[in-house]
Amino acid sequence: MRYLTFALAKGRLADKTMELLESIGFTCEEMKEKSRKLIFTNEELKLKFFLAKATDVPTYVEYGAADIGVVGKDTLLEEKRNLYEVLNLGFGKCRMVVAGPKEMKEKLESGQDLLRVATKYPNIASDYFYHKKQQTVEIIKLNGSVELAPIVGLAEVIVDIVETGSTLKENGLFVLEEICPLSARMVVNRVSMKMEYDRITDLIEKAKKVINE
Ligand code: PRP
Repeated sequence: MRYLTFALAKGRLADKTMELLESIGFTCEEMKEKSRKLIFTNEELKLKFFLAKATDVPTYVEYGAADIGVVGKDTLLEEKRNLYEVLNLGFGKCRMVVAGPKEMKEKLESGQDLLRVATKYPNIASDYFYHKKQQTVEIIKLNGSVELAPIVGLAEVIVDIVETGSTLKENGLFVLEEICPLSARMVVNRVSMKMEYDRITDLIEKAKKVINE
């Protein structure tokens, strides 16, 4: 039997994913030990797990370096990789929104001024503004703390994730438009889906049962 390899987005999503996988028997004791190892194995079940930066998870899965990945829908929409999205895991729920100072709401709706939009998600922002709204904007790519942009005058609005809303609130910003809901998803490499059909569908079916409980 070959190894089934999982790529998990580092952080809270990975912890939640391991809880879910453990509850359906896909365990990994080695992962619980404190170490600087990057890849963890369950020899008995022939499973391997590794943690990667969220934006790299779809890349590992598309190229087949991992058979299965767990990552946020935001990353899937942004990275546009060729994969099967097989399951909404239901956790890591948040929203992709356009946010900014309250007074930007009208300007955003009128579409008359050329607005600057700061974001970690240039593809999601351009899909939304150019294709869905058919509004011309200038998109400025940032790598984090995007809420700073309207405060310091880099951009008028941002496209970003809102979970609790406290980052926006504490910085005097508001949700101006909703783009889409987000949550963690399981993705599968296209070739692995054929080669390991039985093991992967068994995993999906077991996970579905736990999610729907
Ligand atoms: C995310 C997101 C928001 C914040 C939203 O940032 O980009 O800044 O969380 O969460 P809230 O609505 O619960 O306040 P992250 O913590 O990933 O950091 P980053 O902006 O530096 O990437």
